[in-house]
Amino acid sequence: MASSSSLWLIPFLFLSLTERCFGRPFYPLPSKMIDGTRQPLQTFRPYNIAHRGSNGEIPEETAAAYMKAIEEGADFIETDILASKDGVLICFHDVTLDATTDIANHKKFVDRKRTYEVQGENVTGWFIVDFTLEELKSLRVNQRYKFRDQQYNACSLLWEEFLDRGESYFGLGVLDHWDLLRSPSLESPLVLCFDRWLSAIDREETLPPEDIILGRAAWQGQLGKNTLSRVLERGKFSIITFEEFISIALDAERVVGIYPEIKNPVLINQHVKWAGGKKFEDKFVETLKKYGYKGSYLSKDWLNQPVFIQSFAPTSLIYISSLTDLPKIFLIDDVTIPTQDTNQSYWEITSDSYFEFIKDYVVGIGPWKDTIVPVIDNYLMTSTDLVAKAHSHDLQVHPYTFRNENQYLHCDFHQDPYVEYDYWLNKIKVDGLFTDFTGSVHRFQDWTNPPLPKDDNNAATLLHKIGMMLSSYGKV
Ligand SMILES: *[C@@H]1O[C@H](CO)[C@@H](O)[C@H](O)[C@H]1NC(C)=O
Ligand SMILES: *[C@@H]1O[C@H](CO)[C@@H](O)[C@H](O)[C@H]1NC(C)=O
Repeated sequence: MASSSSLWLIPFLFLSLTERCFGRPFYPLPSKMIDGTRQPLQTFRPYNIAHRGSNGEIPEETAAAYMKAIEEGADFIETDILASKDGVLICFHDVTLDATTDIANHKKFVDRKRTYEVQGENVTGWFIVDFTLEELKSLRVNQRYKFRDQQYNACSLLWEEFLDRGESYFGLGVLDHWDLLRSPSLESPLVLCFDRWLSAIDREETLPPEDIILGRAAWQGQLGKNTLSRVLERGKFSIITFEEFISIALDAERVVGIYPEIKNPVLINQHVKWAGGKKFEDKFVETLKKYGYKGSYLSKDWLNQPVFIQSFAPTSLIYISSLTDLPKIFLIDDVTIPTQDTNQSYWEITSDSYFEFIKDYVVGIGPWKDTIVPVIDNYLMTSTDLVAKAHSHDLQVHPYTFRNENQYLHCDFHQDPYVEYDYWLNKIKVDGLFTDFTGSVHRFQDWTNPPLPKDDNNAATLLHKIGMMLSSYGKV
């Protein structure tokens, strides 16, 4: 029957729509807004801020890294905002694409390298401001650190190049699987995973057996469909826009905050121009407003769509204060690094008088953690008074960055990241922290500081509320 067969199609249509969810227009789903049906943001314990998503596991600042962070219990997903050549706000950490994308393997971009002065230093590379959104979307994002899971990395050889090079080595022709590889469900240009294989041949190195088998099989047209799809799975994560990032937070089943940084505003405003003389900061705030972000810290509007705006540039934060009362966090770098716009020293910007000045614009600071507790020979020294000083000015403290791996854990923590989280949350008493491993922080907090049962509107809840009120008094 015609009608029943078309009914069958509906779930599939739906599936394909959700799968392509980043292609649809971005607006918050009405069913997920405001009315209290979503689990609210927790505000009774320090914030778990997922630094560039769950980038301990998945390449940073990708949709997959952010969705993983939400699944693992992040209160906030953190991102860095830069801009493309055509003025689209993009989630990406470095001003150049070199370290975390496969750009080096895109022949058509070889002559796009530039040298620009960034914070007083000449930097050479492929700058994000020299690429349009469409060009950026053709790249794939790689894991930044070699000691983290590499399975999601881009395969760095274009299909055409693979064929060229393979022919010159072996005199072999086009594969039997050409049609499959050309399947319209795959993105073009096809990027394959034979980079290690071919570059090892270039260097006449011995190859891992799996690569030899894969490479030979590919050349002889013997790759099974499963192997091929496993190969093609790699390198599927692309750069996302600020709007796509926001839609991930708004589409979450519970309230998840966002924590975007206005990254390198000086460089962006030098290189990217918007209509009507608008600045990077204007576009940034416009985007937040477009998606309904508004209200001061802990206001009803803010609790519905929580956000902290962060920047290392005081000028940007002060300017943005004139555009929105959303809470802002002033990032503070290492003691040797001056502010990127006002060239002020660390000591100047952490003085009592500066905190007194900046607290009119920001609700907290985000310091590099070694400035709170200095480290010598991988051992912690006595902590500075930075947290006490900030708290005395009613400023929150959200230090960065916490990473579970041994090479980041100071000897005091006996190679146990939970000991480090315990130290910072319970001894130093920070108000939130940026972590590459949101899942670990979430588990630690659930074990040591669990939420009260949701519908438990009884004496215990009341006591807890009174306790919270008293402790916030105690802080002032
Ligand atoms: C960067 O390079 C340009 C051109 O070579 C030079 O004039 C400038 O002084 C350099 N700037 C720095 C900070 O080294
Ligand atoms: C920044 O300040 C330092 C120390 O006061 C000074 O030596 C340097 O020239 C300044 N740099 C700029 C770009 O103003």
